[in-house]
Amino acid sequence: MFIEWDDKYCIGHPDIDAQHKKMFEIMNIGAKNENCTDLTQIALMRELLQYAKEHFATEESYMQEIGYPNLQEHKEEHKKMADAVERLIVKLYSEGPIDVDVFEKFTESWIIDHVIQKDCGIKVFSEASLTG
Ligand SMILES: [Fe+2]
Repeated sequence: MFIEWDDKYCIGHPDIDAQHKKMFEIMNIGAKNENCTDLTQIALMRELLQYAKEHFATEESYMQEIGYPNLQEHKEEHKKMADAVERLIVKLYSEGPIDVDVFEKFTESWIIDHVIQKDCGIKVFSEASLTG
């Protein structure tokens, strides 16, 4: 499945929004590639992992800065997300490529769960603190 970035996913922090957009782009390279070979899958997951780690650090310092109440929970979520990608990379190295549909499903739910579901909580909180 191919999910285009939409500005409605913005949380209102320029760096974080740009990073989310970039992660959508990485995901969509996989979604567009029907012959996603083992090397492509590994390369994409390595890129996603490296990028996501930088992104999580930016997001965590922003949450700290605004006094986001679910910081600890969100940090644990980031760790779980990075672990899931690390586990997949190990699996790809040891067992070869996974089915393209399964691969797409993984990246899609990974990013949707993070950007659209979890991070919108940061937006709601930061907007409420600005207006409140
Ligand atoms: Fe995020």
